[in-house]
Amino acid sequence: MEKDKIRVAIMASGFGSNASALIEFSKNTLSSYEIVVCISNKENPGIKEVARRNAIPFEYCPELQDSQNQHNSVVSLHHLLQSYKIDIIALSGYLKLIPQQIIDIYKDRILNIHPSLLPKYGGKGMYGIKVHNAVLQDKNTETGATVHLVNEQYDKGKILGRRIIQINENCSPEELNEKVKKIENILYPEILHNYCKQFYSHS
Ligand code: GRF
Repeated sequence: MEKDKIRVAIMASGFGSNASALIEFSKNTLSSYEIVVCISNKENPGIKEVARRNAIPFEYCPELQDSQNQHNSVVSLHHLLQSYKIDIIALSGYLKLIPQQIIDIYKDRILNIHPSLLPKYGGKGMYGIKVHNAVLQDKNTETGATVHLVNEQYDKGKILGRRIIQINENCSPEELNEKVKKIENILYPEILHNYCKQFYSHS
């Protein structure tokens, strides 16, 4: 009997290239996961269009934006995750910290991708072009992308996989961003697929 696929929610607030790559991969019959919903704290992020194109529900959750009222965000997000029967959450350009209660409920079931070789160039405020600026300023000869589990600290959870690229001389932050995005779009689906496989073989 064919196993049910692991039900994944993407949480994102950005452009949506990783969301798009995750969804594309999931269309393969051999994929261990399916993307059942895209959730955002923003009303009109790029991922909304990605979801629409792929006929996947998009849920705007404004409560996530209200850092004064943590209780409301937990209740709303938990309700959404339960209503879609979510097994795993894949963060993809989601810049806010996930509330502690959700981390506890989804322990070891929340993944994130970061545009550097963690533990280098991670932490609060390290996102997007800022990461690439810092990498170039320090004259690194290589950088890359990391997929990791999410805990209560920014970019500190267990590393699940990384991919390295070389940095060419005179590379601009924008060029680096583009190169790193390309490898992210390959790495994230691979790692999520393998992680989900392992996850259901133990259940
Ligand atoms: C990626 O660079 C990812 O590493 C970071 O946020 C960015 C999201 O990009 N967490 P996109 O919206 O998937 O294009």
